[in-house]
Amino acid sequence: MRVLATCLMAGALVAPAVMADVEDQIEFRQSYWQVVKHEFGDVMAAMLREKRPMDEARFAEAADRVAALAGLAKETFPAGSMSDNSRALAKIWDEPDAFAKELATFEERAGALQVAVASQDKAQIGQAVKAMGGSCKSCHDNFRAE
Ligand code: HEC
Repeated sequence: MRVLATCLMAGALVAPAVMADVEDQIEFRQSYWQVVKHEFGDVMAAMLREKRPMDEARFAEAADRVAALAGLAKETFPAGSMSDNSRALAKIWDEPDAFAKELATFEERAGALQVAVASQDKAQIGQAVKAMGGSCKSCHDNFRAE
């Protein structure tokens, strides 16, 4: 009886801790994407659209950062990191091969973007930025709730 009571108490203590973990994982993931959006959208795309002055050093730095961050994306999706506070769809874990493909495309295009920026070839840069934007959109369309 005493053992059972202890187990029940331990369970009661563990459950909220696990939930807090999930919320932490989601917060980390959403913060991760905010940083990616900052570097890719608020810096790179904004400079290309002349919404902020072009600063080539900062532009190249952003491409380096996105490339470095891309490899971290998969770690922001631990199994079970779902809640009402997250727009991540269950499909991410139910269809791991399809999701792994999106992640691989993201990493590949981040690498290509970095190479394009280093080349300083405007056409190549434009194409690489567009391809990267397509990767964001594809994953959001398929694996993120509205
Ligand atoms: C491999 C899939 C995938 C790719 C690629 C991807 N995203 Fe996302 N993104 C997600 C998912 C899933 C969420 C929802 C996360 C959540 O709410 O837990 C998300 C959320 C976001 C958010 C909202 C974060 C918040 O505060 O809730 C932003 C901003 C974002 N992504 C930007 C981008 C940008 C910019 C790119 C491309 C450079 C990109 N994403 C590429 C899957 C992806």
